[in-house]
Amino acid sequence: MVPAKKPAKTVLPFKEEFDLSAAQAATASIGTTRAPAGKCSIECPRCPTSIPGFDRLVEGGLVCGSSVVLAGGCGSGKSTFAMQFLYNGAMTGEPGIYVTFEQEPQDLRDMAVRFGMDLPALEAKGLISIISVDPSKIMNLVKEGYGQIVEEVRKIGAKRVVIDSLSAFEVMLKDDFERRRVLFNFSRWLKKKGCTTILISEIGKSIANERQFDVSEFMADGVIVLYDVLQQSVRERAIEVLKMRQTKILRKICPFRFESNGVVVYPDEEIFTMG
Ligand SMILES: Nc1ncnc2c1ncn2[C@@H]1O[C@H](COP(=O)(O)OP(=O)(O)OP(=O)(O)O)[C@@H](O)[C@H]1O
Ligand SMILES: [Mg+2]
Repeated sequence: MVPAKKPAKTVLPFKEEFDLSAAQAATASIGTTRAPAGKCSIECPRCPTSIPGFDRLVEGGLVCGSSVVLAGGCGSGKSTFAMQFLYNGAMTGEPGIYVTFEQEPQDLRDMAVRFGMDLPALEAKGLISIISVDPSKIMNLVKEGYGQIVEEVRKIGAKRVVIDSLSAFEVMLKDDFERRRVLFNFSRWLKKKGCTTILISEIGKSIANERQFDVSEFMADGVIVLYDVLQQSVRERAIEVLKMRQTKILRKICPFRFESNGVVVYPDEEIFTMG
């Protein structure tokens, strides 16, 4: 008698970092998952950045639990904007974590204090935590399921997270598929924990039309771009929301400035017309 053929083992194309069951991962991996019936709601809870002028561009704030790419050239104001988002959240009782692959925590504290954000006081209260990761350790971090970040999110009950920057991942994860997988799993885990996340992305050119969009921008729920526009010999800073799922966005490039309290956006003004 011919022995019954063993059913072929499902081979997962990748290891699931987080707590999804193997069955879900297997079906998801071959693209046949039927989405479970879910609740639909027109109400979409917002997570205000409270950055002066900005929330008017996005119906009052980022969508709670969303992952938003904040892209900009060097010195365009990415870290300041992201720090204000964390700080303003912490001031209303929403703990936040700033993960930096780029800067020393003390530099970030100094930058925040210069704009009137008393970061050390909020750190002491457990409302803000800065995690500094050596870029060369990113692969370990990914392999360990983001151990250090995950632990800190749980420890302080973070509701807001900043990753500064995705470019560090891009250097380590050259393959588009791998990067998509890693970012997707990480964003999904943060969403499950109820965290609203800003993913900082460094771009080389100041005008979005001149560049290719990155995989992360297609995957993210939202994309905000910071520009440094040049007219003759004068530069002006500007901000645009390119995409924000579930949100009617103001489709306009708005000027912004660094003021004593950090970034201030002017939605009613035009670039190069402000005094
Ligand atoms: N008080 C201020 N007034 C005007 N501009 C300021 C002030 N303080 C800092 N800046 C500008 O802010 C920029 C740095 O801001 P920030 O660190 O947020 O930018 P970034 O995009 O994160 O930079 P990087 O590419 O280095 O990460 C610099 O270009 C600096 O000139
Ligand atoms: Mg920065």
